[in-house]
Amino acid sequence: MATEKTLNDLFLDTLKDIYFAEKQILKALPKMARAAQSEEGKAGFLKHRDETQGQIERLEQIFELLGKPARGKTCEAIQGILAEGEEIMEEYKGTVALDAGLISSAQAVEHYEMARYGTLKSWAKQLGMTEAATLLDATLQEEIATDQKLTALGEETAKGTGNASASSKPVLKKAS
Ligand SMILES: [Fe+2]
Repeated sequence: MATEKTLNDLFLDTLKDIYFAEKQILKALPKMARAAQSEEGKAGFLKHRDETQGQIERLEQIFELLGKPARGKTCEAIQGILAEGEEIMEEYKGTVALDAGLISSAQAVEHYEMARYGTLKSWAKQLGMTEAATLLDATLQEEIATDQKLTALGEETAKGTGNASASSKPVLKKAS
């Protein structure tokens, strides 16, 4: 019979998942900054890139607290979210809707991270890992703040871009 796994194992596995995800995000953010048309968007993505670097360091501190090597575990969820973002960059290149698309991808990333950090924080508390819980909360708060900034930026960006040209006008179905 396989050894029974505990919440400690799940915590470590999830830590590896988000460590992998953060490293992918770190690589994706400069690409998103380059693609963004607005200066605000570019600056926002670059600022979050720097924050992400700090978040990776916090995760490394937690691995150290656990006495485990900092190692990632392939996270297909983040790969999918980032692949969708790349698709938007290609398909909406040069259009007025590009930045709105980039912001929507960034928000999908933030929500994935918020889910992971929220869970890890509560598990850390349950496992009596106070220091890890504090580190996880610091990152969680950064992700929440980033998400809120993206919401504001997204609303601003989407304004007035809907009817830029007749050809890009979406066909709206009436709600039944
Ligand atoms: Fe992050």
